Amino acid sequence: MLATSMDSQRQSQSQPLSQRQSPSAAGPLRAPSREETWRGGLVDDLERVILSEAQIQRRVAELGRQISEDYRGRDLLVVGVLCGSFPFIADLVRTMNLPLAIDFMAVSSYGNRTTSSGVVRILKDLNSSIAGRHVLLVEDIVDSGQTLRYLIDNLQTRRPASLEICTLLDKQEARTVDINTLYVGFECPNEFVVGYGLDYAGRYRNLPYIGVLKPEIYQ
Ligand code: PRP
Repeated sequence: MLATSMDSQRQSQSQPLSQRQSPSAAGPLRAPSREETWRGGLVDDLERVILSEAQIQRRVAELGRQISEDYRGRDLLVVGVLCGSFPFIADLVRTMNLPLAIDFMAVSSYGNRTTSSGVVRILKDLNSSIAGRHVLLVEDIVDSGQTLRYLIDNLQTRRPASLEICTLLDKQEARTVDINTLYVGFECPNEFVVGYGLDYAGRYRNLPYIGVLKPEIYQ
């Protein structure tokens, strides 16, 4: 039987990665280095980098170790608050050798602005019940604290065994409501920061480090 074009496409997709050829005649694909990827482009919009990739990864591993010790033997549900927490939670749970479960909530309070509106909307709720479970809520940043205040109040009504907060960044100076953050990666200056999940108008989340955005970008 003649091979269809679909069959030959399947064959080429199942080829070992190391043997795949670039679609051009230039030869095998070569992954660009981190340095090559992050030269120019998005990076030019930053005034300065405040947390390097290495600093973030080191601190994430420390947090993961601490959390693993604290939750050993408990039924842990790690809840990521989308979208900002996605790189942090992905890196964090991969440093935790525990039989944990993961769920997500999506909320929005900032829109395309640089300050919190104070109005929190749940865009996606949890898939599972948290009754009787130990819940660790993971955020990229606590700024005014309004988002977490709303989430904590909401989740407490669902009767978890415990509810704690882990945030990569804590912007204490911007706080307008009291939030008890048990695990904090770094204190954050009261400036507009982007990268590693943090966005401005939906952009910059994919930067592997965190920096201060040039004011002319958002003014
Ligand atoms: C950001 C961030 C926190 C919140 C913190 O979310 O991820 O959830 O703001 O601000 P607050 O302490 O002043 O409430 P945002 O609403 O921008 O959505 P995102 O996670 O999709 O970026």
